[in-house]
Amino acid sequence: MRYRYLLGDSRRESARLRQQARVWDPTAYALFDRLKIKRGWRVLEIGPGQGSLNLELRRRVRGPVDAVERSHAFAEGLRRRSSRDRFGHGTLWECDVIDAPLPRGAYDLIFARWVFLFLPDVEAHLRKLVAALKPGGRLAVEDYCRGTLRMVPEPPAWNDFLEADLAFFATQGGDANIGARLPALYATVGLDVVDVTPTTKVGRPGSIEWEWMTTYFLGVLARYGRLRPFTHAKAASLRRHWLAAARRRTSLLISPTVVDVVGQKRM
Ligand SMILES: C[S@@+](CC[C@H](N)C(=O)[O-])C[C@H]1O[C@@H](n2cnc3c(N)ncnc32)[C@H](O)[C@@H]1O
Repeated sequence: MRYRYLLGDSRRESARLRQQARVWDPTAYALFDRLKIKRGWRVLEIGPGQGSLNLELRRRVRGPVDAVERSHAFAEGLRRRSSRDRFGHGTLWECDVIDAPLPRGAYDLIFARWVFLFLPDVEAHLRKLVAALKPGGRLAVEDYCRGTLRMVPEPPAWNDFLEADLAFFATQGGDANIGARLPALYATVGLDVVDVTPTTKVGRPGSIEWEWMTTYFLGVLARYGRLRPFTHAKAASLRRHWLAAARRRTSLLISPTVVDVVGQKRM
């Protein structure tokens, strides 16, 4: 199956990614702290999108960071933003990561946030990235375990909505629960799992967490309506419930869990 990236690179999606980064960048900074990233490390980021973490990685290595980004618009934005600090240009491959001519045995760290859930054949992608790591180098992926997602009180047809959420990623061979599968997959491709750290957010109406989840889910709800057993009518009803819930102080959204999974390449 030809891979099509589901969320695209429109201006609206760019704004959504920036909003999402404000919620989640502190979790990535904590991961970077645990990785004890050092000045001069060779680092590769997969799918930097709007690039907030690419800039942070550059600050931490005090030099350029390589990247693979399939979107031309996002790659251009990254070039623009990274020319404003003094750390120089890394190599930026503008293609799908599976097609990038990555150097072998080159990187101390490869990092990806919210890319693996979209990918078909995760094992082939992992093997490619492991080949690009130095012996002892680390792969750090932040991705979802979707199962914690809840709205309280629960709207009608919620379980059908959850099924559509998984089915959406599956249409392109992806898995929105990939975070839960990564530790076992790491072991099969020659990585020792050295850190598995979960983070789940809770949002009340008006909070940035509520706004982040609302922007994403109401943005894709019409597309989810095509995925049975969810329907357009159920999507319309959920939208009404969601907007009504936003007006009640006691409503709650519990987020999908982001899991940081770090593996170290065997020597
Ligand atoms: C959900 S966004 C996440 C962006 C960024 N990592 C972040 O955390 O904000 C996914 C990003 O991965 C890129 N992407 C998706 N599939 C890709 C692939 N196969 N190879 C390289 N980049 C990919 C998209 O263009 C997009 O920038």
